[in-house]
Amino acid sequence: MLAPHPGSLQIDATLGGGGHTERILEAASPDGRVLGLDADPAAIERTRQRLARFGDRLVLRQANFRDLATVAPAAGFGAVDGVLLDLGLSSHQLADRERGFSFRTGGPLDMRFDTARGEPAAALLARLTADDLAALLRRYGEEPHAGRIARAIVAARGAGPVDTAERLAEVVASAVPRRPGPPPRIHPATRTFQALRIAVNDELGALVAVLPAALDLLRPGGRLAVLAYHSLEDRIVKRFVAAERRGCVCPPVFPVCRCGRSPRLRPVGRQPTVPVEQEVAANPRARSARLRVAERLAA
Ligand SMILES: C[S@@+](CC[C@H](N)C(=O)[O-])C[C@H]1O[C@@H](n2cnc3c(N)ncnc32)[C@H](O)[C@@H]1O
Repeated sequence: MLAPHPGSLQIDATLGGGGHTERILEAASPDGRVLGLDADPAAIERTRQRLARFGDRLVLRQANFRDLATVAPAAGFGAVDGVLLDLGLSSHQLADRERGFSFRTGGPLDMRFDTARGEPAAALLARLTADDLAALLRRYGEEPHAGRIARAIVAARGAGPVDTAERLAEVVASAVPRRPGPPPRIHPATRTFQALRIAVNDELGALVAVLPAALDLLRPGGRLAVLAYHSLEDRIVKRFVAAERRGCVCPPVFPVCRCGRSPRLRPVGRQPTVPVEQEVAANPRARSARLRVAERLAA
C-alpha cells in the first residue's frame, strides 16, 4: 500500500523491531531510504544492530512521533514519499518483564515507551483520585466497570502500592463481577491495562499531533499508512482522512465556500483494510488491526 519505489524517501514513525522498515528498504532497493523513529531507546538500539546491513539507507532517531514536524526535516527527510504508523506497543515491549505492559508477564508497572520521560503507570495509579481513575478507564479503555475498578485500586493502595502488573491484575479481577457461564473471552484486566498505557504515553494526543505533520511532509502522490488496534485511535485516523478528503470546512449553511481549503488526501484501498482469516490464524495479535491508507493530492 505504501508502494515504496527505488530512490524514494520513507518514514517509519514506529520502528519497533524494524519488520516494516526492513520490507520497505527491500522494496525501495537499491537506493530508497528510510527514517525510522521510536520513542523507545531499546527498540532503536536493537533494530540498529539487526538492520546494520542497510548502511546509510536507514537513518534512526529516538524521538516521539508527535515531534515529526521538526525531527524529520532535521534528519534530511523534509519531503517524503511515504509515512507509516503502526500504533501501540511491540511484541518485544509486551514480553519485557521490566516494563509491566502485560498482566501475563507481570513486572514493575512502568508502561512508558520512552523510559527516560514522563510518569510511570505505578505513579499515576498512586496519585489519581477514584473519580479521575474511573474517568481514565472509561475514556481510554471503554471499561464498563470503571467505577468499581477505580474504587478497588484506591482501596488496595491502603494495603501497599499497586506497583506491579500482577498486583493490578489481581485487584481488577477481584473488582469485576463474575458472570455465570463460560469464562470471559478476554482477561478482566485487559481494558484497564490498555487504558493505563494510552494515558501514560498520551497516545491519542501524539496521534492527533502526528497526522497533520505527516501530511505536510508528503510529496504529491506520497502515501500515509496507519495501522490502528482499537476503535479510539482508528476513529481519529478515520476522521482525519475524511476531513482532508473533503477539504472545505465551511458550515453547510454557507451557499459558497469561503474557507478556500481544497482536498489534500485521497483514500486508497478498502477503508479500513482488515486482516484475512489466515493472517489472524498465523498472527493472532493482528486480529484487531485496522489499516487506513491515503494518498497526498497536489493541493
Ligand atoms: C506496533 S510497534 C511497531 C512494530 C514495527 N512496525 C515492527 O515491524 O516491528 C509500535 C512501536 O511504536 C513505538 N511508539 C508508540 N508510540 C510512539 C510515539 N508516540 N512516538 C514514537 N514511537 C512510538 C513503540 O515504542 C513501539 O516500538
